[in-house]
Amino acid sequence: MTDQAHEAHHKRVLATELLWAFGVGVFVAAMLSVVVFTALTRDINPPSNVERIDPKTLHLSGEFAEHNLGTTIEADGRVTARIIATQFMFVPRCIAVPSGRPVTLRIATPDVIHGLLITGTNVNTMVVPGFVAQVHTEFNRVKHGETLLMPCHEYCGLGHSEMWANVEVMPDDSFKPGPDGKVLCAQR
Ligand code: CUA
Repeated sequence: MTDQAHEAHHKRVLATELLWAFGVGVFVAAMLSVVVFTALTRDINPPSNVERIDPKTLHLSGEFAEHNLGTTIEADGRVTARIIATQFMFVPRCIAVPSGRPVTLRIATPDVIHGLLITGTNVNTMVVPGFVAQVHTEFNRVKHGETLLMPCHEYCGLGHSEMWANVEVMPDDSFKPGPDGKVLCAQR
């Protein structure tokens, strides 16, 4: 090749590379703006919630003490389910939720990383020691009285495959708190 041909060739390569760099740049910018946009407008955030909790003492007092676990109707009417994920079970083993009403799930672990999903819903989160995992959801597309499976989906040790809970979706008229403000599963 002559020097001129060489130079022409280099220019073509440079033009192609700049074109690709531009295309990829536009794509990355579009992806980032979707992430930022949904985070700001639709409350879609990393489920770790960046809310700290001491894994060594969380079961002793405060929000995740035993008498606070399970489903509670708060004073302002919101429904919150508090769950501990521990090797190798969820406490409580059955979680009662209303159908067609917003529910907040709050989960913490005293030991290792767990994860959970609820079959047939968009609920899917990691549970990391030191943080409260929080998920807002509504059990809309689920039939009344249906029991959903909530397995641990993060390998957490030898008993991992035995770690799961039930989520009982109740129609509004049977979703009634007891004297302590707790709603329990009908099937226990
Ligand atoms: Cu807990 Cu796997």
